Amino acid sequence: MNKKRIAVLVSGGGTNLQAILDAQQSGIIRSGAVTLVIANKADAYALTRAENAGVDHCVILKKECGSQAAFEQAIIDKLEAYRIDIIVLAGFMSILSESFTSRYPRRILNVHPSLIPSFCGEGFYGLRVHQAALDKGVKVTGATVHFVNEIPDGGEIILQKAVDVLPGDTPETLQRRVMEQAEWVIFPRAVELVCAG
Ligand code: GAR
Repeated sequence: MNKKRIAVLVSGGGTNLQAILDAQQSGIIRSGAVTLVIANKADAYALTRAENAGVDHCVILKKECGSQAAFEQAIIDKLEAYRIDIIVLAGFMSILSESFTSRYPRRILNVHPSLIPSFCGEGFYGLRVHQAALDKGVKVTGATVHFVNEIPDGGEIILQKAVDVLPGDTPETLQRRVMEQAEWVIFPRAVELVCAG
């Protein structure tokens, strides 16, 4: 079987990208191969992870493109040049328009650091999600992998995993636990599920 060609879109540290690359090495992901990494920040450490893994990578900056439409077109051009089948948003901190998402129905995956529908949608990203969970006083949070459609964090849910909130947690300690116990576990599994059809 031909492996699906995966592009991973990133903005920051890229620990989820690393989890996916490691899962490819260990055989958890066997129906797809990360073929391209695209960052929308020039200093994203995720680019170093791609380089170390020998994966082609590039930077596309919205401000250099001039508009959201031109930014998305530049991404589409790269995806087409690499004949990408599956798009994985791994800490990609830019909302893609409906004109982008509707091109790739059930072909874009995202990981979100809460149990959707809690603490999600526009404005909920990164540490803000964990701050909101702590402010609310929830005792359980987690992570969700879902398909991406025109509603931010609103697409069909693929996998979820719960994680305990512990006394004394800060946004940083909770973020770390959610990554270790949930994101890095379910994201590679979901990528394999989708690549395997
Ligand atoms: C992850 O916790 C991911 O769930 C979150 O950003 C972090 C990226 O970390 N994504 C969102 O908040 C999207 N709304 P990483 O760059 O180390 O993978």
